Amino acid sequence: MTETLAIVGAGRVGRTLGRRLRELGWRIGPVVTRSAATARAAVRAIGGGAPCAGLTRRIVAADVVLLTTPDSAVPRVAAELARLGGREWRGRVALHTSGALSSRSLRPLARAGAATGSLHPFQTFSTRAAAELDGALFTVEGDARAVRVARRLARALGGIVVRLDAGDKPAYHAAGGYAAGHLLTVLEAGTRTLMSLGFTRRQAVRALVPMARQTLANFERHGPGATWTGPLVRGDFGTIASHVAAMRRYPPEYAAAYAALSRLAVRLLAPGDAALRRRLERALAGR
Ligand SMILES: NC(=O)c1ccc[n+]([C@@H]2O[C@H](COP(=O)([O-])OP(=O)(O)OC[C@H]3O[C@@H](n4cnc5c(N)ncnc54)[C@H](OP(=O)(O)O)[C@@H]3O)[C@@H](O)[C@H]2O)c1
Repeated sequence: MTETLAIVGAGRVGRTLGRRLRELGWRIGPVVTRSAATARAAVRAIGGGAPCAGLTRRIVAADVVLLTTPDSAVPRVAAELARLGGREWRGRVALHTSGALSSRSLRPLARAGAATGSLHPFQTFSTRAAAELDGALFTVEGDARAVRVARRLARALGGIVVRLDAGDKPAYHAAGGYAAGHLLTVLEAGTRTLMSLGFTRRQAVRALVPMARQTLANFERHGPGATWTGPLVRGDFGTIASHVAAMRRYPPEYAAAYAALSRLAVRLLAPGDAALRRRLERALAGR
């Protein structure tokens, strides 16, 4: 039997999952955003569904309701959906895709009788590039029935499923931040530094990206220890002091991030090496 999926908050994640699930045979029901224009655009991107500007009772008729609004809207949307659907929520499944929130943020729907859970694709979805879901990790948590449905959706999308405890979601989500947003930030810091020396953005990106790619490949293949290179691992503390002095010519966050990342490197990659830590502190202080 074809199941119906409602998508509430059809932005980057909602559109991508909606499109893929439609291709996999799901019937797409209401596709909801807060304006008619964005709802219509989402339906075009998904290739199916009924555009809805705002929440409606029709959403509750779907077998599975996927909440893909921004995190901040999830509790409010859940409360409003619970009010709209009342007892009709019994037997339905509601899942959100937030990495940081747990199924507890869907409590009003659980109280109304829905099975609630979260289904988080550990992938980055941008407006420009289609996110690769095949082989991506999906974490699931929530009550038993919601987890069963979440697992089924994740597997259908080609994902690898990991179960998580609700209380662990913020730390889990922060871990992803290191690989996505923070990685972008350090690459951009390197890019801006090179640009300040006369490189074009294109030249800077050409210089940095192959090095970043090689680091990623080494990390994946050989692990962190064998991948670690640079003045810290060589014990070139004079070089580190010169880096810090150079970074001080840029906005203060550059030198602060350089110091914080160097300290984190010692903690993670040379734990227990008190001498290295002391010498690093001296170099960071410019001594
Ligand atoms: N982007 C990622 O890489 C990524 C990865 C994994 C998980 N997630 C999670 O997935 C969820 C969605 O993220 P996203 O990046 O797809 O966000 P997004 O692109 O900003 O999309 C959010 C959508 O929700 C709609 N919306 C906002 N408030 C609403 C409301 N009150 N009622 C109905 N629709 C509403 C917005 O449309 P209008 O403004 O037109 O209303 C928009 O289409 C978040 O929980 C996020 O943490 C994101």
